[in-house]
Amino acid sequence: MEASAAMTLDETIRGRRSIRRYQHREVPEALVREILDLASHTPSSMDGQPWCFVVIRNADAKKRLAAIKNAHCPVEKREQYPADFLAAAPVIIAVCVDKRRANDRERENGILATALLLLAAHARGLGSVYLSAYQPHSPALALEVGRLLELPPEIEPVTLIPLGFAAEIPPPKTMRGLTEMIHHERFGG
Ligand SMILES: Cc1cc2nc3c(=O)[nH]c(=O)nc-3n(C[C@H](O)[C@H](O)[C@H](O)COP(=O)(O)O)c2cc1C
Repeated sequence: MEASAAMTLDETIRGRRSIRRYQHREVPEALVREILDLASHTPSSMDGQPWCFVVIRNADAKKRLAAIKNAHCPVEKREQYPADFLAAAPVIIAVCVDKRRANDRERENGILATALLLLAAHARGLGSVYLSAYQPHSPALALEVGRLLELPPEIEPVTLIPLGFAAEIPPPKTMRGLTEMIHHERFGG
């Protein structure tokens, strides 16, 4: 189905896929703003609304983000998930969180806003994919992203989300199936 603002929520959720190839077509600032406006309605711990969205269009910055992501990619993921495509995305949104407003829930707040951002992008006809801006057990990736984007120490990067009009249709994916996931009253029930 053609993506549009008239998509139902069900269609948006079921139709969203990770897109890693983009058309050479500008993404209008107004469209980015609409998507970030939707993402800003995400629930947050104690309603802190701690997000900062850094909108990156500069070619050199995008190239450097791709290189930083590749440099910190775990060996076992390196072949299957190179981040080179980041450099070719028309826009990258760095979803960041202000620690002073996050109530010790920086990552949860950032990840949840990213989920809505991905859905909002799809509903507005844009492709995107989730990339982490931190590693769980090492500060190096987040520090390098922070240095590049000149984030003050109280602002933590959580995800890097490229946005662009899709230049690929991903193959259908196999779903695990709900019966494996749902348990009644107790695990295994
Ligand atoms: C926590 C998390 C980390 C991810 N990291 C990467 C990544 O480093 N590189 C990448 O290309 N995609 C990454 N993805 C996207 C997943 O590969 C993708 O969502 C998954 O394969 C399912 O495909 P779909 O999004 O098309 O449904 C990540 C997704 C999540 C939720």
